[in-house]
Amino acid sequence: MKIIVEENYEKMSNRAALLLASQVHLKENSKIGLATGGTPMGMYNKLIEMYEAEEIDFFQVTTFNLDEYCGLSKENPNSYHYYMFDNFFNHINIKKENINIPNGMAADYNKECRDYESLIENAGGIDLQVLGIGANGHIGFNEPAEKLNVMTEVVNLREETIKANSRYFEAEEKVPKQAISMGMATILKSKRIILLASGKNKVEAIKATVSGKISTRVPASLLQTHPEVTMIIDKDAAALI
Ligand code: GLP
Repeated sequence: MKIIVEENYEKMSNRAALLLASQVHLKENSKIGLATGGTPMGMYNKLIEMYEAEEIDFFQVTTFNLDEYCGLSKENPNSYHYYMFDNFFNHINIKKENINIPNGMAADYNKECRDYESLIENAGGIDLQVLGIGANGHIGFNEPAEKLNVMTEVVNLREETIKANSRYFEAEEKVPKQAISMGMATILKSKRIILLASGKNKVEAIKATVSGKISTRVPASLLQTHPEVTMIIDKDAAALI
């Protein structure tokens, strides 16, 4: 695991954007895995700036998002579909047909999950996966548990995740209880992974991810088994390592 500690959120975001851009420069039809949440917002802003300055071109890029809430439509401002278009895709030249996000309104969730796996496989796998991390060590929506999902599946969200994510919703009751999420193997099959973390509330999760034993109780700790992981974290998140 390579660990890069940056002074603050802005520097962390810029560093992540440069790393993603270098992947696209290396291979213009890169398959990029993307994350939502507050953490990658700065990276998306920087990438939009770079696109506007003609420093990066997304025309041939394909993306796969990690997860989506069950029961939220694409038009719902709390859906990850909405987040991705609003914060990133609407501002760059990516082709709509190259954007992949699990469908939270699918009539048959099992089929949706299997199809999502096939889409990734048929694209030749993910070249670079961007991850955030939950304060409880979750990645995507793979929550701490005795057993973790291997492939893309419907998952039950834990109480603390519902609480943490309720800041985006009108009320905690409005946060969906389930989501579709890439599984651990889906994530770990990516050729390269970058994990971003910022702020004091991630400090324990980062410590457990970097130096704890590998445990399904800290899903991110499984990243220790991957040969090409770069963690880009700010000083606050790195305080215990
Ligand atoms: C959500 C997402 C994760 C994300 C996590 C942390 O639960 N499913 O992909 O990493 O939240 O979010 P934030 O970056 O807002 O702390």
